[in-house]
Amino acid sequence: MKILVIGSGGREHAIVEAIARSPKAEKIYAAPGNAGIAQLAECVAIKDTEVDKLLDFAQTNAIDLTVVGPEAALAVGVVDRFREAGLKIFGPTQAATEIESSKDFAKRLMKKYDVPTADYATFTDYEEAMAYVRRGTLPTVLKYDGLAAGKGVVIATTMEEAEAALRDMLLDTKYGDGRVVIEEFLTGEEFSLMCFVAGSKICPMPVAQDHKRAYDNDEGPNTGGMGAYTELPFVTVEDHAYAMEKIMQRVADALVEEGRPFTGVLYGGLMKTPQGIKVIEFNARFGDPETEVVLPRLKSDAVDLFMAVASDEQPEAEWSDEATLGIVLASKGYPGGYDKGYVIGGTERVESKIYHMGTAMKDGALVTAGGRVMIVVAAAATLKEAQTKAREEIAKIECENLFHRTDIGNKAFK
Ligand code: AMP
Ligand code: GLY
Repeated sequence: MKILVIGSGGREHAIVEAIARSPKAEKIYAAPGNAGIAQLAECVAIKDTEVDKLLDFAQTNAIDLTVVGPEAALAVGVVDRFREAGLKIFGPTQAATEIESSKDFAKRLMKKYDVPTADYATFTDYEEAMAYVRRGTLPTVLKYDGLAAGKGVVIATTMEEAEAALRDMLLDTKYGDGRVVIEEFLTGEEFSLMCFVAGSKICPMPVAQDHKRAYDNDEGPNTGGMGAYTELPFVTVEDHAYAMEKIMQRVADALVEEGRPFTGVLYGGLMKTPQGIKVIEFNARFGDPETEVVLPRLKSDAVDLFMAVASDEQPEAEWSDEATLGIVLASKGYPGGYDKGYVIGGTERVESKIYHMGTAMKDGALVTAGGRVMIVVAAAATLKEAQTKAREEIAKIECENLFHRTDIGNKAFK
């Protein structure tokens, strides 16, 4: 089979690698791919949101299956377009993607179907929003819901912070009609439960934990993720069963009920609070960097699995019972400004997996080309061993402009 993977990050590198392990994969393309992916697939210079060009490429090259990585491609309707053209594609439709792209839709759905999540209210008017915040308690969580992505989530600990954030989200007219979801602040351990979903048929992946803050001890600004691991001791068998039944299955069924059946990966960003497990957010795609620690454990044939989902059949997956732990190497300055083009040495001495996130080849040398540059993923019988191994591997990589967190996985040992 000829397979096209859309995207260019570490997540897509892990997806391409899982596909490359399948004897069914005769030829793999990636659009646009990256320097690491280029070792396994032919990279084509089409951006993830250039739907016309992607469709044209898939038709011209008789692609049998397309797998979508990034949310941006889903939100512009790449899956709808491919399906209309009769092509097999792994990912949700634009309507189903709203579980991620519209926080308000996600919250309304959860309320309607009794899925445990933080209490909330939605506002478009600044004064009404502020009045609501003044009536409530601090900290409070403000989530922008609208076309201007990147304003994201603000956890306001003072009234002044809430005011500034709401002004930015609701009064700054250059972003058009803003909408804000104001949520109750929850506390507890966060974890990611990703499931393969084909309508009401679902299949879980191993639970993972992301590390979103830039520096050790969860300090510093939010990033795209600085590391992750699988095998979380604080998620018990009962927790898992609860999350599958009351959250993941319920939402999959709800989306079918609403006439927006989901196909692809439904990502539950969950929190184990003192009042039980609750939803922080849903994503309509593989998580990053969770995918980089989860897919190395896939023992089943990835092509069969993706094809089953794309064909609306029951997905079934077997996983190795080892633990995995991945540490991200990022450019100094990230997630703020950073320089590119620094030579990266020593990767050939690393025995564990390396997934490229932001690299390039320059004059025959591997160089940094992004904020997050690569993730090194070690696998071992226990998480402790995986952590030790990942740290040893990271030490082999030489580059003067990279930094990483040294505490990835520590929450498992508390
Ligand atoms: P999100 O963009 O929804 O993933 O939010 C980013 C981060 O903000 C999450 O990973 C949480 O750490 C935090 N967060 C979001 N919603 C809440 C909430 N209701 N209570 C506490 N923390 C939250
Ligand atoms: N790891 C968080 C995300 O993929 O959105």
